Amino acid sequence: MDLKPKIREIMDFPKKGINFKDITTLLKDGQAFRASIKSMAELIRDRKPDLIVGPEARGFIVGAPLAYELGIGFVPARKSGKLPYKTIHAKYQLEYGNDVLEMHIDAINPGQKVIIVDDLLATGGTIFSTIELVKQLKGDILALAFLIELTYLNGREHLKEYDIYSVIRY
Ligand code: PRP
Repeated sequence: MDLKPKIREIMDFPKKGINFKDITTLLKDGQAFRASIKSMAELIRDRKPDLIVGPEARGFIVGAPLAYELGIGFVPARKSGKLPYKTIHAKYQLEYGNDVLEMHIDAINPGQKVIIVDDLLATGGTIFSTIELVKQLKGDILALAFLIELTYLNGREHLKEYDIYSVIRY
């Protein structure tokens, strides 16, 4: 299925110069949503991860069904102040702002094989701080997987030591 036409592009959102990739148009199309998750699953299935880790919020939308499809667990990396138990944190810079991501201290056991996923790789800031969290807990990062990759922002350049999978590229 050609998924690119299902994604709506919004010029100058949330700031001038950013061409926002709106996945809500893909998500509301059941076949496109399912095909998206299946495509991500087929890219990573053979790596045999123990866990999928995804950052809030859109990383949950792709990460949870992906973990379900693979029959493995899902760990959320949440924005500051949302998690109730003891947390670790990592700061990150976005294409348009700053934020902090947190994870429960017992979210990953040392040596567990993790694939980090998100809807989109832009500058790589979000995924970089998610990587920091997984490293703090001594998870073994097998790969990074995205539904969409904005290749023109060179996120990959900052993540050279990792295998990176993406389904849709701009
Ligand atoms: C978007 C997107 C990725 C991130 C990609 O999330 O869902 O997580 O930006 O950009 P980067 O590679 O430059 O870090 P956003 O921060 O807009 O939050 P949301 O998922 O809560 O909408």
